[in-house]
Amino acid sequence: MGLQEVVLVTGASSGVGEALAPLLAKRGYRVYGMSRRSVALAGVTALPADVGDAAAVNAAVAQLIEAEGRLDIVLHCAGIGGAGPVEHMPTAEARRIMDTNFWGSWNLCQATLPHLRQSPRGRLLLVGSIAGFMGIPYRSAYCASKAALKTLGDSLRMELKDSNLQVATVCPGDIATNSIATQYRQPAEDLDPLYQGRYRKADDGMAANVDHGMAASTVAERMYTIMNYEVLKPYYVIGEPLQKASTVASRLLPGRVWEWVLGKYYS
Ligand SMILES: NC(=O)c1ccc[n+]([C@@H]2O[C@H](COP(=O)([O-])OP(=O)(O)OC[C@H]3O[C@@H](n4cnc5c(N)ncnc54)[C@H](OP(=O)(O)O)[C@@H]3O)[C@@H](O)[C@H]2O)c1
Repeated sequence: MGLQEVVLVTGASSGVGEALAPLLAKRGYRVYGMSRRSVALAGVTALPADVGDAAAVNAAVAQLIEAEGRLDIVLHCAGIGGAGPVEHMPTAEARRIMDTNFWGSWNLCQATLPHLRQSPRGRLLLVGSIAGFMGIPYRSAYCASKAALKTLGDSLRMELKDSNLQVATVCPGDIATNSIATQYRQPAEDLDPLYQGRYRKADDGMAANVDHGMAASTVAERMYTIMNYEVLKPYYVIGEPLQKASTVASRLLPGRVWEWVLGKYYS
């Protein structure tokens, strides 16, 4: 690497972002870490901001540009989950997921694209989810936010095709991080009896899957590899073979067949 590339990692206070930011610093990049909480990571300059707050994101990016004069790579890991059935989940909680995962990504794009486009080899990796390919019961707001992020990335790629900036969406399966502990999970007792049994099972199952998921460092290493490819693919699905296959099956199988298959998993 000639001139040190400047990287902005969002979600740097936990999970994938927390693994990724110091790893990049160690490998010679100039690294800035964005999250609401400011944490001290080796070689990483903290850039606290709430991605849902456009003014705060703009100010933070302006501060980075003032210090570095350039921005080459954005690795957007910030995101939140949440659980509850559509009928009962408090709208404010569902909205918070959209505000963070979709509007937060929008804000980040608006703040960083003008700078990323100036880089000779700009890279923007958006962290979506396998859940962005399909609806999962009791995770509607999360699935919708990640599906919205996936299509945002699709649109961006086409809009930017005449530029040096490449955009890819990284879609992981379960990762063993703090995300379950910090997200909103509606108590089963709040729900109509119609939902209670299946919700409890699905929600406990989801938490157990995350606990047994990939290490954050595994996803961080994959993202490092991806950002250094000469030509990026639109999506990188990271996870177990069955989870990877689900993103293809959900698109190829007739709707009723796919929902029957998924229903077996969640019954
Ligand atoms: N864990 C999984 O099983 C899994 C599976 C598929 C996809 N993903 C996605 O992978 C990404 C990383 O997940 P993770 O498991 O590493 O999550 P995590 O450990 O819960 O960390 C989430 C990070 O996002 C930041 N964040 C949340 N809301 C924010 C906001 N409004 N503004 C700025 N930063 C915010 C958090 O920092 P602060 O709280 O300090 O702001 C934290 O640094 C997320 O996009 C997630 O949706 C996770």
